[in-house]
Amino acid sequence: MRDVLISPSILSADFARLGDEIRAIDAAGADMIHVDVMDGHFVPNLTFGAPVVEKLRPHSDKPFDVHLMIAPVDPFIDAFAKAGADILTVHPEAGPHIHRTLQAIRAAGMKPGVAINPGTPAEIVDPIIDDIDMILVMSVNPGFGGQSFIDSQLRKIESFRRKIDKTGRDIILEVDGGLNPETAPKAIDAGVSAIVAGSAVFKGGAEHYAGNIKALRGAVK
Ligand code: DX5
Ligand code: ZN
Repeated sequence: MRDVLISPSILSADFARLGDEIRAIDAAGADMIHVDVMDGHFVPNLTFGAPVVEKLRPHSDKPFDVHLMIAPVDPFIDAFAKAGADILTVHPEAGPHIHRTLQAIRAAGMKPGVAINPGTPAEIVDPIIDDIDMILVMSVNPGFGGQSFIDSQLRKIESFRRKIDKTGRDIILEVDGGLNPETAPKAIDAGVSAIVAGSAVFKGGAEHYAGNIKALRGAVK
């Protein structure tokens, strides 16, 4: 079975102590740091923007996997590059020119990703697959942590796995929403190479983070 990257979502961290929380998940074995940016307009919740990401950046050397749930995206691309985002993932519904947005992300020195909502068909990636380094499959409707995994997304993951293998490129296939030691193996079997987990990583406090990450890895071995 492939080695799966674990990207804890800091949406479930203690927002009053975000720097400490990032250090703790880094030390606990996280492969990337998943950063959820919400605008209260594209999704019905608000988090934070690039200035906060910039302040968090020195707390870990792991890649920042930044998931933008905002519209528009384009005016903020340079700010996230400057803040230290490594992967910048956008929803195709967030603007009228997804190809231009992906090009702008790459031109700013980041890896472009595309996030696919549960109701969005897999075929939307076909014209842009050569322009992306990550497909982020939403297995919940974006906006909140702690929701239940939507099983119907497994078939879409299988379809993305076939599309990615056909390119011969190492595009990360990441799944986000409702992942825990019970649902992770299903997503792995379907072909993901990275798992986002918020509540399953942060539950129980810092002394449990390593065990929680191990449980997700154990589930996928
Ligand atoms: C939801 C976010 C997720 C969220 C996942 O809109 O994109 O990253 O934090 O949380 P859990 O793992 O609790 O479902
Ligand atoms: Zn996310």
